[in-house]
Amino acid sequence: MNGSLTFLGIESSCDDTAAAVVRRLPDGRGEVLSSEVEGQSALHAAFGGVVPEIAARAHAERLDHCVERALAAAGLTLSDLDGVAVTAGPGLIGGVLSGVMLAKGISAATGLPLLGVNHLAGHALTPRLTDGLAFPYLMLLVSGGHCQFLIVRAPDQFQRLGGTIDDAPGEAFDKIAKLLALPQPGGPWVEAEAVKGSAKRFALPRPLLDRPGCDMSFSGLKTAVLRARDAVIAEKGGITVQDRADLCAGFQAAVAAVLAEKTRRALEIYLAENPGVPVLAVAGGVAANSVLRADLETVCTRLGVAFTAPPLRLCTDNAAMIAWAGIERHLAGARPGSDLTARPRWPLDASAAPMIGSGKKGAKA
Ligand code: KG4
Ligand code: ZN
Repeated sequence: MNGSLTFLGIESSCDDTAAAVVRRLPDGRGEVLSSEVEGQSALHAAFGGVVPEIAARAHAERLDHCVERALAAAGLTLSDLDGVAVTAGPGLIGGVLSGVMLAKGISAATGLPLLGVNHLAGHALTPRLTDGLAFPYLMLLVSGGHCQFLIVRAPDQFQRLGGTIDDAPGEAFDKIAKLLALPQPGGPWVEAEAVKGSAKRFALPRPLLDRPGCDMSFSGLKTAVLRARDAVIAEKGGITVQDRADLCAGFQAAVAAVLAEKTRRALEIYLAENPGVPVLAVAGGVAANSVLRADLETVCTRLGVAFTAPPLRLCTDNAAMIAWAGIERHLAGARPGSDLTARPRWPLDASAAPMIGSGKKGAKA
């Protein structure tokens, strides 16, 4: 259509059922024509984490309606599209399968080309959709399921410099909230409590800062908060509102300090190779945290690096990023294969050492 490309995107790899329509204009700019996201927090609330079977069933029940709403909101029908992109992994396999099956059905019925997209590539390419960022750039992905540094060189070229070896930061925020009887998802609640607390009261560890490189660990920090909480309970018979605020502040400061220092190291590696394009982009729900953002911006200012973060609705899980990644892959020459399969694990950088562990939000990559 006049050199523009319009793709439907479908996302169902964790606990958000999402569909979106995105257009790439002939001048390269991206336009989100619609982005529907239906969260499942209420369905999983009683279980303290995402239950894969419940998630898969909800995706299967809701995805087709979600696609209809996305098309209606964009004012388009399937015949106006140039292609379909679907998250083919990594993630909870039942959910990924729901999306892939629907996408295959749409493609078979309409003849539209279908591309499988890596969920992490969707996050990593979002700053090109929202800010028109040119390659290369350094991306820090921090969410409930992911945490890694990536040099993004092309739609299919990512170099992982490091990442968490256990929990993702958002997962740790959620677990701390649970320990302190705060609601889920815990990140915003912990941040709100932390504002009222002192980060200095509890001496919490800064895991892996004593080791070189960009790998991180957040699971020990969570245990340290649990011990500090239990010590207060043993001493006083319970925790006060102030104790809780101080624990939240201490935890948040530790996460931000680790992420800021590891970001500094990742930037040093990136800048040594790409001195002419000093750019850090962040994505993922945890990037909403204002203390973390401020710390990252300070690191960037010190190193003369531009800092960019897509708007939150496109930073967290959504299908616009999947549609956009599909368009980028299409333009880079990817052609649909009938062998498109759902993959629970799918590292973006196949040459990087595998990550350890599999958190409550699904397989890590
Ligand atoms: O990217 P996202 O929507 O979903 C994935 O996990 O992929 O991220 C959700 C995570 C949750 O763990 C939530 O607690 C965390 O992001 N989060 C925050 C904040 N807002 C959301 N963590 C810290 N501070 C926040 N303000
Ligand atoms: Zn995600």
